[in-house]
Amino acid sequence: MKRVNRKEVIKLLNDLKIDKNKYIVLSSGALVLRGILDDAGDLDLAVDEETFNELNKKYDLIKRGSNWYRLNDRYEFVIDDSVKYENIDSFNVQDIHEYLDYLNSSDRLKDKERIPLVKDYIKTSDLVNKTLLYVEEFFSNDFSGHDFYHTLRVYNLARNISYNIECDRELVYLASLLHDVDDYKLVGKQEERFINAKTFLKKNNYPQDRIDMICHIISQVSFKGSDSVTPDTIEGKIVQDADRLDALGAIGIARTFAFGGNHNSPMHIPGTKFNFNMNSDEYYNTTRTSINHFYEKLLLLKDMMNTDEAKRIALHRHKYMEKYLEEFYKEWDGLL
Ligand SMILES: [Fe+2]
Repeated sequence: MKRVNRKEVIKLLNDLKIDKNKYIVLSSGALVLRGILDDAGDLDLAVDEETFNELNKKYDLIKRGSNWYRLNDRYEFVIDDSVKYENIDSFNVQDIHEYLDYLNSSDRLKDKERIPLVKDYIKTSDLVNKTLLYVEEFFSNDFSGHDFYHTLRVYNLARNISYNIECDRELVYLASLLHDVDDYKLVGKQEERFINAKTFLKKNNYPQDRIDMICHIISQVSFKGSDSVTPDTIEGKIVQDADRLDALGAIGIARTFAFGGNHNSPMHIPGTKFNFNMNSDEYYNTTRTSINHFYEKLLLLKDMMNTDEAKRIALHRHKYMEKYLEEFYKEWDGLL
């Protein structure tokens, strides 16, 4: 039977057509949702008695073991309302520490092989959680659209893009979370590059060679007009895509006007010339209108994405912005 990747796992769960809060994803399905494994053979789901009865009426489940029931070769259910869980991308997923305890107590080779993967995941998660707290504190006074929530969105986008791509996910997570803590627009010129990211990671005993990799990713991520570079690592490509995607769509529109207001830029002046080919000096030092920003940056971004998933999301967001601009001009001219 063909194994299913993360997208297919999510589709299988949605196909069940039961409230997501009524089941907990266990075992390999849970590992795929967390990005620990690339694919799973089937889905094991824990449900309570009431949900089991609901499912049994709908699907006529086949009894397999003491509390285990089978729907087909894709789904198995266990009646168990004692499973601890946490929320991962809107799904209830078995608590990772509880799962590790189970793996440690199991004699099966398959379970033993998963132990180092789960331990690595826990280690990464602990550092990611500390980094989240650090960036939240770091950006606590920023309202320019370059705030903590921008970082959080970039992290979530980067995480989503990274699934099903072979990459060093820990680098993707940490670089996306730290990509703006040394940004020129926020902290000005620094004596030592990436001092904030470096200091934070060092304090957390992160290995120097990996700190260097993260700084390398961050150095290639930001948009600098025509001086932008295509990152030379897959992790850099993912983080750059995520950062650029957050400049697009409904969020991108909101950020553009928030940033414009924060920098005393007018919203729109009819007839202002666009500059499509700014280098980084011009990009940072020219006053432009927020509407110009759509043409000089935002509408160019969909053709600058590196990964297929980002291209797909960018196209959706691009179309939304085009529609928005159409509407904007009609309202500006009093036609709507
Ligand atoms: Fe950013």
